[in-house]
Amino acid sequence: MDETTSSYRADALIATDIDAYLLRHQHKSLLRFITCGSVDDGKSTLIGRLLYDSKMIFEDQLAALEADSKRVGTQGQNIDFALLVDGLAAEREQGITIDVAYRFFATEARKFIVADTPGHEQYTRNMITGASTADLAVILVDARKGILTQTRRHSYLAQLIGIKSFVLAVNKMDLIGYDQVRYAAIVADYQQFAASIGITAFTPIPISGFVGDNITTLSANTGWYDGKPLITHLETVEISARAGSGQGFNLPVQWVNRPNLDFRGFSGLITDGSIKPGDEIRVLPSGRLAAVARIVTLDGDLPEAVAGQSVTLTLDREIDCSRGDVITAADAPAQIADQFEAMLVWMADEPLLPGRPYWLQLGTQSVTVIIQPPKYQVNVNTLEHVAVKTLELNAIGVVTLTTDRPIVFAPYDVSRALGGFILIDKITNATIGAGMLHFALRRSQNVHWQALDISRETHAALKNQAPAVLWFTGLSGAGKSTIANVVEKKLVRMNRHTFLLDGDNVRHGLNKDLGFTEADRIENIRRVGEVAKLMTDAGLIVITAFISPFRAERKMVRDMMKEGEFIEVFIDTSLKAAEARDVKGLYKKARAGQLKNFTGIDSPYEPPEHPEIHIDTTQLTPDEAAEIIIARLIP
Ligand code: ADX
Repeated sequence: MDETTSSYRADALIATDIDAYLLRHQHKSLLRFITCGSVDDGKSTLIGRLLYDSKMIFEDQLAALEADSKRVGTQGQNIDFALLVDGLAAEREQGITIDVAYRFFATEARKFIVADTPGHEQYTRNMITGASTADLAVILVDARKGILTQTRRHSYLAQLIGIKSFVLAVNKMDLIGYDQVRYAAIVADYQQFAASIGITAFTPIPISGFVGDNITTLSANTGWYDGKPLITHLETVEISARAGSGQGFNLPVQWVNRPNLDFRGFSGLITDGSIKPGDEIRVLPSGRLAAVARIVTLDGDLPEAVAGQSVTLTLDREIDCSRGDVITAADAPAQIADQFEAMLVWMADEPLLPGRPYWLQLGTQSVTVIIQPPKYQVNVNTLEHVAVKTLELNAIGVVTLTTDRPIVFAPYDVSRALGGFILIDKITNATIGAGMLHFALRRSQNVHWQALDISRETHAALKNQAPAVLWFTGLSGAGKSTIANVVEKKLVRMNRHTFLLDGDNVRHGLNKDLGFTEADRIENIRRVGEVAKLMTDAGLIVITAFISPFRAERKMVRDMMKEGEFIEVFIDTSLKAAEARDVKGLYKKARAGQLKNFTGIDSPYEPPEHPEIHIDTTQLTPDEAAEIIIARLIP
């Protein structure tokens, strides 16, 4: 154990009584901060300096505390400062595309976790990730260059994510001869910008990461500076000053703990506020009230628990409460809604597709969400609002979104936990965006579902049939309309009540405002899906003939329907065959470049993976195909 321990020799306690040492650090507060700045502003040097000068780097203990974060293999006081800096820079380069490097260090007064994120614009998402757990941002500026575009962008992002505590570290003071006038000019510049984006206060410090000026001790080189050294500031700054923590009590329920019939507890992490036995709570979304009976932990019951603690609550009465619900203070409950305005950061290579269903995950709640075309994108360099149709990788914009069921939330500036969300692609499961809820849209609260006396069952019974949707999909010219037409005729002859929705026809009326971009095709299918759903409510057998090229939207329509009512019919023709037939002459036009976004040519078609019915048009006549489809529908 000697080699490792010797590197911690700054603290003799480690060698003599490791338990006492750990205990002492356990009760220190933890400050999480992020360093941001332009590429050459000296970030690695500064972080190296902090690790080096703080004298004790006991990452093992902190790593245990923060098991999910990344470890850094620094060797404390024994290693050379320059080597340490090189190592940090190299490590960040390697980790650059995945996420953020977290570094741990501690001083006598406090423990620290620094999120070290790359500076370039293409790493906006890394910066957001790093900032999302930070209490404070150190904005680094090269004293020779002053405030740059990246300085502004990083400050904007940090304040967007809710950081309230800022340090303006004017670095490389040694290279401008510790010029006080130049320093004051940079601070004044930043002051003006900071005010314009809502940063009300920040602490400026003149430093040199390289030389070590004003890092741990005040430097004789800046006799005119009357503030604290950087580390002293980080050790003493108040941590609770972060937006979105604190008001009211919130505990998103992670699981229901029921080991036996006598015990029923609700477990999760307290995200906001505090709770004591006897406090009145409300379970959302149901709105049921109860009082807290006990606060149970592995180490016994607690008289009080606060944000950041994982606990199990038992209540004084039996009420419904399950995973995804939120236990809140009875008198200050979070809100419930299904339409929101939000700030969204897009993190995927593929642009946002308005109208496409994605997963939205907010705390322990997971719902389907659809995003409208952005209201605007923020040019993060100039802060201008730009009109856009979508959001590309790293873009930030304001959007309206609709979830498929109400969620429990609070605006992000009230609760990070109940206002911050991520978006997940339903097919790849990749995280594709992160956002902050601003507020719920009123219309969602004022439009209620109206219960009707004549039910869909009544409609269906009157027609003496089971409603269904025969959803045809396939390339243009595959034969969807032809086969659908034969199917409908046969069904009508069998006294079935049907309706055929055909792409070309619907695009003359309901959807005449739509073209063939991905977004328009998604909206086309969404509307047709909704219409088909209404028609099944009316008891009809609906036949649809749309290319419907994307799996995601076909799945969306499938999910809208009652189990078993959606029958996907893949009309399978090779592109070659469809093009050879070219009934409407459209393939020819597309090949000649006169028709853009043509399916199969310059717009994709995603064939179904598990269609209920697969029709190979090279083997079957339309009549034979129709027979197969009807046999599946009416066995
Ligand atoms: S979908 O992709 O949105 O489902 P839909 O089935 O409504 O398409 O419309 C397809 C029909 O529109 C085709 O059969 C063809 O007649 C016509 N059309 C015109 N332009 C295009 C295009 N760029 N791509 C595909 N079909 C087109």
